[in-house]
Amino acid sequence: VERTFVMIKPDGVKRGLVGEIISRFERKGLKIKALKMKWLTREEAEKLYEVHRGKPFFEELVDFITSGPVVAMILEGDSAVEVVRLMIGPTDGRKAPPGTIRGDFALDIGANVIHASDSRESFEREYKVFFSDEEIVGDY
Ligand code: GTP
Ligand code: MG
Repeated sequence: VERTFVMIKPDGVKRGLVGEIISRFERKGLKIKALKMKWLTREEAEKLYEVHRGKPFFEELVDFITSGPVVAMILEGDSAVEVVRLMIGPTDGRKAPPGTIRGDFALDIGANVIHASDSRESFEREYKVFFSDEEIVGDY
């Protein structure tokens, strides 16, 4: 089994999509191993998105991700990283296929409802912004 990190962004939380999104992952068969609501500080947001530092959209991205609370979770299942990326769809909501989370709920490249780790290495870095290892539940 593999783990991945998922974060419902402030637009998804404000629009009341938390239940819908978690429900999709549960129905898929992914197991929730940790779950938390949090309003990120600028420092935490910059750490989460440090790979994008210097890009033209970086400031806008940090402003957006700190504009309201987010809901973060660790999901577990076979090929979780790849499966969840397929379920969320491409970055630009206008190009994301219907059936994906962004395809069904987003119409923007910045405000695109959800983030998910793009590799095992990203997962290892990203989950630590939100969770201590003690907050990950044991097998159930
Ligand atoms: P994440 O799961 O959030 O990491 O999205 P991603 O992996 O599909 O995209 P990427 O890592 O390339 O970009 C991270 C986030 O930055 C995106 O989800 C967007 O919210 C934002 N972003 C990326 N490109 C642009 C852009 O051209 N303009 C704006 N405003 N935001 C962007
Ligand atoms: Mg990314």
